[in-house]
Amino acid sequence: MTGEVERLNVLLKNFENIGQKNIFRFWDELDEQKRSLFLDQLEQLEMDKLEKFQKLIKEKASQYEFGTLVPFDVIPLPQKKIEHQRYKNAIGIGEKLLRNGQVAILLVAGGQGSRLGFDGPKGTFPVGPVTGRTLFQCHVEKVIALEKRYGHIIPFYIMTSETNHRQTLDFFQEKKYFGKKPESFLFFNQGVNPALDKNHKLLLAQKWQISVAPDGHGGLLQAVLKNKIIQDMKQKGVEYIFYFQVDNPLCHICDPAFLGYHVIHQSEMSAKTVKKRDSEEKLGNIGTIDGKVVTIEYSELSPDEKTATREDGRLVFEQGSIAIHVFSRSFWERLFASGFELPYHVAEKSIPFIDENGKRVIPKDKNGYKFEQFIFDAFSYANKVMVLETKREKDFSPIKNKNGLDSPETARRDLSNLYASWLVKAGYNIPRKNSGDVAIHIEISPLYADNMNVLMNKQPKNLKINHNILIE
Ligand code: UTP
Repeated sequence: MTGEVERLNVLLKNFENIGQKNIFRFWDELDEQKRSLFLDQLEQLEMDKLEKFQKLIKEKASQYEFGTLVPFDVIPLPQKKIEHQRYKNAIGIGEKLLRNGQVAILLVAGGQGSRLGFDGPKGTFPVGPVTGRTLFQCHVEKVIALEKRYGHIIPFYIMTSETNHRQTLDFFQEKKYFGKKPESFLFFNQGVNPALDKNHKLLLAQKWQISVAPDGHGGLLQAVLKNKIIQDMKQKGVEYIFYFQVDNPLCHICDPAFLGYHVIHQSEMSAKTVKKRDSEEKLGNIGTIDGKVVTIEYSELSPDEKTATREDGRLVFEQGSIAIHVFSRSFWERLFASGFELPYHVAEKSIPFIDENGKRVIPKDKNGYKFEQFIFDAFSYANKVMVLETKREKDFSPIKNKNGLDSPETARRDLSNLYASWLVKAGYNIPRKNSGDVAIHIEISPLYADNMNVLMNKQPKNLKINHNILIE
């Protein structure tokens, strides 16, 4: 008990000094267990971070002022014969890495998925157009197909967050890891940052808990460091890390061409891009400012920059980043040795809180700020960067929104379209809508075929072209 009083007094003083004493307003109502939880949480809070965040909000207006942004030179889709040859060469190099067991996969799955509004980890969202295969199952089965092809178990690291860690682990256990070796997975938790209200005050999520949120996909690097992931990778002989995000069921996981180009260009951090749908598509723009590689978010480009065109009419910023990366392990080791820190970004959000009367409020409007790091800010620390253009229809259809663009509906459509293109090559006629999209639902298990060549070799016979086609 005395210990508790002492701890409380220290914290009271510290929080009073920074004008945040109000968080203790329900202290007298709390039982012993809740008091203890509250003290634990507050002791873990990094006070200097809090001051940094308050400063960041004040400076927000000038945060993204930058010099002239020049688009980064992207390796385009191969067209000429020589480009096809180079591409093939890159595939050969990437395949060798996979055969040698030098590649690991890192999936970031710690986000809150607030736009989708799905109750549960986003990876458990059903996306298969026919069976409702979950995102996690899609990803893992593709990896199993790779393991069979290249004769190596691929280490699979999955970053979760406080809110979905337990549920994610339980889901994988319940599904028996979808048939991949359980010991080849490593689940680790990302950090959290406190949220602040419009007056720069901490918010209470409960009477005994301040409101915190995951620290962004850029929190990956601190989490990797904290959880000694590098040591694990080293021990497993991993030299390259293939990074992707949980909400993209189309991702060409461990694309050998991408891995190969990363090596050929001696890149430390690489990215994939697609041609934007139009100047308004909300993708990151990779460019350089004074020779430093940066990714500038859609919202940070000026209207002139968004719509600027080249002589041939193409947009200056015609390529958008699709958040698929390869990192060299040595790059991360260098970063960690240098004590780096990625910058923080401020986002205005609607954040539920406990009001002065102890009532929980779910605000309709944005009432505060969350603070996140973004993985693409690591570009500016890399000595060499490689950016490769890819085909959207083979690599990118994220589930971000409930409806409309980048939603479950578009992801299922794009999966059906992709599988249809394989079946057409195999000689089938697939009914189409006027839009050109397939008029039926198609799903092919990655365990049956994870690309067109595999499907062609298997030549599925006597398929009935019904409303639903499922090949497993
Ligand atoms: P998004 O930026 O789309 O965020 O994440 P989100 O949380 O999924 O969705 P919204 O913005 O709340 O609607 C892109 C990827 O980064 C991961 C997500 O899980 C997703 O794979 N991510 C995001 C994290 O792992 N941690 C974070 O703190 C944020």
